[in-house]
Formats: sequence, structure tokens, C-alpha cells
Amino acid sequence: MDWDENTTAPPTEGEERLVGAGADGEDQAVEAALRPKDLGEFIGQAKVREQLDLVLRAARARGSAADHVLLSGAPGLGKTTLSMIIAAEMDAPIRITSGPAIQHAGDLAAILSSLQEGEVLFLDEIHRMSRPAEEMLYMAMEDYRVDVIVGKGPGATAIPLELPAFTLVGATTRAGLLPPPLRDRFGFTAHMEYYEPAELEAVIHRSARLLDVSTDAEGAVEIAGRSRGTPRIANRLLRRVRDYAQVKADGVITREIASRALAVYEVDERGLDRLDRGVLHALLKLFGGGPVGLSTLAVAVGEERETVEEVAEPFLVREGLLARTPRGRVATPAAWAHLGLVPPVSPQQAGQQTARHTPGGTGQGPVSGA
Ligand SMILES: Nc1ncnc2c1ncn2[C@@H]1O[C@H](COP(=O)(O)OP(=O)(O)O)[C@@H](O)[C@H]1O
Ligand SMILES: [Mg+2]
Repeated sequence: MDWDENTTAPPTEGEERLVGAGADGEDQAVEAALRPKDLGEFIGQAKVREQLDLVLRAARARGSAADHVLLSGAPGLGKTTLSMIIAAEMDAPIRITSGPAIQHAGDLAAILSSLQEGEVLFLDEIHRMSRPAEEMLYMAMEDYRVDVIVGKGPGATAIPLELPAFTLVGATTRAGLLPPPLRDRFGFTAHMEYYEPAELEAVIHRSARLLDVSTDAEGAVEIAGRSRGTPRIANRLLRRVRDYAQVKADGVITREIASRALAVYEVDERGLDRLDRGVLHALLKLFGGGPVGLSTLAVAVGEERETVEEVAEPFLVREGLLARTPRGRVATPAAWAHLGLVPPVSPQQAGQQTARHTPGGTGQGPVSGA
């Protein structure tokens, strides 16, 4: 995949959405304080933790830089946090950059050639790096070497430059977009999963402690259930509920307070917000549950096609509330139940009812159900 300035970036989810998984300004300010500092503090992702622990322990025992690590997973699941933990566990400095920040191979060469022995280079959104930089990275990862091109045109020469052993930690939300040669050069790939409610409760209790907020068990359960399996969202909802608890109550987060606070912010019991509910509502009320085309659905909710498709739908699909079919978007029975609506009688059932209630021979046979 080539990256260029004309490629529109995917709509960044969560700029001003309370349940968006991307980091907003406030998140960035508090996240540093909320990040677990070592593997022991990192909640959930048991498999990844166990595997990574082995990788790091072995490297420490050998006294060498750890293998390159690829972290793949949705936004807000802890990729940046883990990269910092890797550096901390290796007692190594960390350099942080991202694919989009590296436009030219020269940018990457400058970073690579200034690394210290054993340093961790965190490359966020690695799938958005330019092709020439990517090719330079192959050699750097494999042989700790880059070729620096000096001069232009036919007279240009490649000067090989030795690099210190370093650990590349790449993060991507889309491992599928990485070219196989790049993917193959990572010694270890961690797939980050969405968190279980109990794990999110633990995240909330930990953050509440750090933010000096009192939360009872039920209050944490209530927030966890609305956090879409994502620690970043759990932390953000916690802060909004804390505000409400301070202004409207005695500051203690209970189930009642959490539920009233999140009703104010229009985040429902399942973590759907206004946009998600708007899409579901239109699909159910205007189109009888579908199938309906994406564009029609988008017009009905007054949103851009891309917003419906890339911002609202992934979570609705993940929750089993909406299905994408070749004929269009279709609501599942769970969607009707979630909005407290009753699905219309399907043509099939209607046909059977007609057959039952009309005396035969009217010439209007039931709709074939098969
Ligand atoms: N396993 C975890 N345990 C505790 N907090 C976590 C965990 N994973 C993520 N977080 C919290 O969620 C926030 C977002 O994590 P981050 O590493 O920035 O996600 P990503 O880089 O995948 O988008 C961080 O502030 C961190 O405090
Ligand atoms: Mg990150």
C-alpha cells in the first residue's frame, strides 16, 4: 500500500465522541498518569502478557536487545502503553514516532542513526509509513544497517551505515495492511483483544485510585458495561461520571450515579451513543429493519456515508446489532430488543397468517415462504 498526501486518512474516530476510541486532548493529558508502568500492573491481555514476559526475560538473560515486536489491535487497547512497558522492562530508553510522521526515507535514517544500543523505537501507525521508508526499515530490522544515499541521479552512491542493536515496536490498528515482508521481520506479534467487563472494572478501580475518586463495586460495573471493551473509553467515562458525582452528589460513584451521569451524556447501558442509536433507530423505524442501502441509511440519519460506515457501524456489527449483507444493512433481533421495539411480522409469517385466516379459493394465495 502506498501512502501519499492525497490518501485521505480514515476518519479519526472519537475526536469529540465520548465513546470514541481515539485519544482526544484531555485523554492525552491524563493518560500519562494512568498508564501502567510495568507488565505486572498491566490489566488483562493475559496471553499477550505471558508471551511478552518470556520474550523480554530471555532477551534480558542474553543481555541483548529484545526481538522486534508488533502490537496489533483497535485504538485504546493499550498499544502505546505496552511499548513503554517494553522499554521499562528492558531498562532501555524509548524513542516515539509514527508512520505518518516519516514521510521520507531520510527522516527514518536520521532517527535510526541516532539510536542508542538497546533503545526501543516505537513506531505507531506503522501501516501508514511511506514505501521507501518501509524498505529502509527492512534492512535496519534484519541487519542493523541502513544505506544512506548521497548525491542525486546517476552519481548517487549508497553509503552503508552500521546501527546499534535496537528493538522496533510497531503498532497498528490494521495488521492486514502491513506488507508481508514487514510483518515477517517481527519476532513476536501481539494481538490485542477487547477487554472483558471484569478487566475493565479493574482498570476503572485502578484509575479511580490514581485520580483519587471513590467508586463502589457496582459503580465500576456500570461504567465498565458501557466502555465498549476499551480501557481508554472506560477511563474517559470514569472522568465524566466523577464530574457528575462531584456536582450532583457527594462525589462517590455508585451504580445510580454512574447510570444517571451517563444518561446525561447519552451513553446507554451497552455503550451506544446518540449516533449509534440514531442509525439503529432509522434502520428499525424507517426501514423496518432493512435491508437498506448504506447511502439511504446515511441520508436518513443526516450523516455522511463514511461516518455511518466507519464510525457507527463497526461497533454495531461487533455487538451483533447490525449486519452488512450484499442487499444492504439489516437489523438483528437483538437490535429490536435493545431499542425496546417489536419487529414487524415478516412477509413469511404474514403469508402464513393470511393462509390461515382467509378461506381458500380467493385467488390470492399466500406469499411463498420458501
Ligand atoms: N491493560 C491496561 N491496564 C490498565 N490501563 C490500560 C490498559 N490498556 C490501556 N490502558 C489505559 O488506556 C489508555 C489508552 O491506552 P493506549 O496504550 O494509549 O492505547 P492505544 O495506544 O492502543 O490506542 C491509557 O491511558 C492506559 O491508561
Ligand atoms: Mg497509541
